[in-house]
Amino acid sequence: MKPLRLALLGFGTVGQWLAEALHTQRAWLQHEYGMVVAIISVATAHDGLIYQSDGLDIPTLLDLVATRQPLSTHRKVTHWTNVLEGLQATGGDVLAEATGATLRNGEPGLSYIRAALSQGMHVVTSSKGPMALAGLELLSLAQAQGVQLRMESTVMSGTPVLSTIREGMAGTRIRAIRGILNGTVNSILSAMATGRDYAEALAQAQAQGYAEADPTDDVEGDDTVAKTLILAAAVFGRALAPEQVERCGVTTLTREQVQQADALGKRIKHVASLRLLATDGTEVSRATAEDGAVPTFLEARVEPVALPLGDPLARIDGLLNAIAIQTDTPASVMVIGPGAGRFQAGQGMLADLIAIAKSVPKTV
Ligand SMILES: NC(=O)c1ccc[n+]([C@@H]2O[C@H](COP(=O)([O-])OP(=O)(O)OC[C@H]3O[C@@H](n4cnc5c(N)ncnc54)[C@H](OP(=O)(O)O)[C@@H]3O)[C@@H](O)[C@H]2O)c1
Repeated sequence: MKPLRLALLGFGTVGQWLAEALHTQRAWLQHEYGMVVAIISVATAHDGLIYQSDGLDIPTLLDLVATRQPLSTHRKVTHWTNVLEGLQATGGDVLAEATGATLRNGEPGLSYIRAALSQGMHVVTSSKGPMALAGLELLSLAQAQGVQLRMESTVMSGTPVLSTIREGMAGTRIRAIRGILNGTVNSILSAMATGRDYAEALAQAQAQGYAEADPTDDVEGDDTVAKTLILAAAVFGRALAPEQVERCGVTTLTREQVQQADALGKRIKHVASLRLLATDGTEVSRATAEDGAVPTFLEARVEPVALPLGDPLARIDGLLNAIAIQTDTPASVMVIGPGAGRFQAGQGMLADLIAIAKSVPKTV
C-alpha cells in the first residue's frame, strides 16, 4: 500500500505525540483505517527541516529529541535551515502543522499552511493563530486547490467539535453557537463559585499548573476570541477580525458579583457566542441569512455571563469545555469534553489525518 507522505512541522508536545501514535499504532491504523503514513520531513525552530524520501525513523527522531541531539544527525537526511524552503522543496501529501504559532500574526504556521495548500498538500493543524487570523482565506485556498484543511485541535483541543459540526451535523443549518472554550478561565470561575476571590483563584490555578505565569491570553479572553474567530470562519463562513468580537475578560470580576449571581440561582461563566442577527438586532434563521432577503451580520461576543442553573453551560466546571450548537430546528446539540492537553491535541490531529487518508485514493 502506498503510504501517505507526511510533513510534520513542529516537533514539540503535540508533534511528538502524533509521531509516537503513528509509530506505536501503525499496525492497528493500517488494519482499521487502511492508513499507512511515512513521515518524510520533520522541522523545529532550532533544527530546521530534515527530509528522507523513504520516511524518517520515528523512534530515532524521538530519541534525538529526548537526548537533545540535533535532528540533522538522523541518518541519510537532507537538511534545510530554512523550514519554508525545505517544505517547498520536499512537499508531501499532507502537512501536519504543530508549531507554536502566535495569536498576533499567526506565524510561523500561517506561512507554512499557505505554502502547503498552494502546492496541493492537504493540511491538518493544531495552531489557533493562523486559523483565527486567516481561517476563511485558508479554507478558500484549500477549496480552490481541491485539498482538505482540517483543524480539530484548535477548538476544545481535539474534543470533536468541528467534525461533529462538519460531518455529524451535515445537512443542518447552524444559526448560533455558545461555548465555554477556555479551561483555565473556567477553573478560575469554578474556584470563585466556591468563595475565592479572583486573585486567590488565579494563584490556585497557577499552583496547579492550569494557568501560565503570565495568564493574560487566557484571562483577558484572547485565546477564547481566537477560537470564536475560527468557529466564525469554519461554521458560518464569515471572516471576522479580532476587533469585531465584543470582548470582556474575567480579571475585574469580584467575589461579590459571583455571590450575587449565586443568590439569584445563577453561575457566572465566560461565554463565547456567535449568532446570526438581522441589522435591526433580531435573531434570524440560517436559511433567511443565506437567502440574502434580509441583511444579516454575525454577532460575536466573549464575556462573563450569569447563566441560570437550568442552562447546561452553567454546570460545566473546572477544566471542562463545552459548546452548544443551535440549528434552524428547535434541537440544540452539546459537545462536552476536555479543552486542553497533549493527548487531546494530538488525538485531534490524528483524527483529522485519518479523515484525509480515507478520502485519498489508495494505490495497493
Ligand atoms: N499542547 C497542547 O495541549 C495543545 C492543545 C491544543 C493546541 N495546541 C497548539 O498546538 C501547537 C503546538 O503546541 P505544542 O504544545 O506542541 O508546542 P511546543 O511544545 O512548544 O512545540 C512547538 C514546536 O514547534 C517548533 N517551532 C517553533 N517555531 C518554529 C518554526 N518557525 N519553524 C518550525 N518549527 C517551529 C518548536 O521548535 P523548537 O523546539 O526548536 O523551539 C517545537 O518543536 C501550538 O500552536 C499550540 O497552541 C497545543
